[in-house]
Amino acid sequence: MKHIITSIFAGFLLIASLGVHAGPEEDRKALIDHYKQILPNIEFDDYVLGALAMNPEAKEQYDMVMEFPAHEADVRQGGVHWEKPFRNGNKFASCFKYGGINAAASYPYFDEKAGRVITFENAINDCLKVNSEPEIKYGSKEMALLTAYAKSLSDHAKVNIKVKGAGALAAYEKGKQFYYQRQGQLNFSCATCHVDNAGKYIRSEQLSMMIGQASHFPLFRAGTEAVTLQARFVGCQKNTRAEPKEINSAEYNNLEYFMSYMSNGLKMQTPVFRK
Ligand code: HEC
Repeated sequence: MKHIITSIFAGFLLIASLGVHAGPEEDRKALIDHYKQILPNIEFDDYVLGALAMNPEAKEQYDMVMEFPAHEADVRQGGVHWEKPFRNGNKFASCFKYGGINAAASYPYFDEKAGRVITFENAINDCLKVNSEPEIKYGSKEMALLTAYAKSLSDHAKVNIKVKGAGALAAYEKGKQFYYQRQGQLNFSCATCHVDNAGKYIRSEQLSMMIGQASHFPLFRAGTEAVTLQARFVGCQKNTRAEPKEINSAEYNNLEYFMSYMSNGLKMQTPVFRK
């Protein structure tokens, strides 16, 4: 496999390594400029569609699936979970501003006091903890269905991630470094595929651009398999023969923070269908 993949990529320049001293906003703008150059026909708002934005036929199929999605019953189940009162009578909604409406669009954020990134899944478990309920396993189907519903309460809200203060910036930089770090037997970074080679084919799949990837997870693959964003990180790392990190590890949470910041300004939509 190494031979096939490297031959696909041979000859492509690594154009998009981001400047070392640039701040998050400069990084984001530079990356948008890069995608505008290599994929000039894709509108910014369509970045959320990922590879579908590059393939009208696949997009048409997607639109049909999304009219009556097979994952609807699963999301409803997540909704029942979200609404179910805790033993003390509180609900998940009591832990979030405006009952959770548009809440997910501001996650992850950096918590100065805790000194770490807080993902939406962390906030769900923190909510359970303060209400003396058992926490939910990260990466589990239960977490995926619950957050598929809870994040849908932020549909159409624009991703709005903040990086303020030294701690937040350090976490962002760690996430960025992870993204551009070559790893594993094939010696690929995430950016090799989703930045430098976005739009190109790898076997039968067209590579999506990174901007827009964090705005619609969890999603459902093949109609019914719920996949969280960090479970997708694991998938891509395994595919490139790199050692995946634990879901909810500091590495993945920082990576999610960086990638979510890069999707700032795009509309949230959860969940969606993917092949
Ligand atoms: C060898 C190329 C390759 C590398 C390296 C790679 N990916 Fe992927 N990734 C893919 C392919 C192929 C897909 C499926 C098509 C698509 O949506 O891009 C995918 C899909 C994804 C998706 C889902 C996009 C969507 O909207 O469904 C995410 C998120 C993602 N990758 C993140 C990462 C991260 C983070 C890394 C680094 C840890 C990474 N990828 C490394 C090839 C790669």
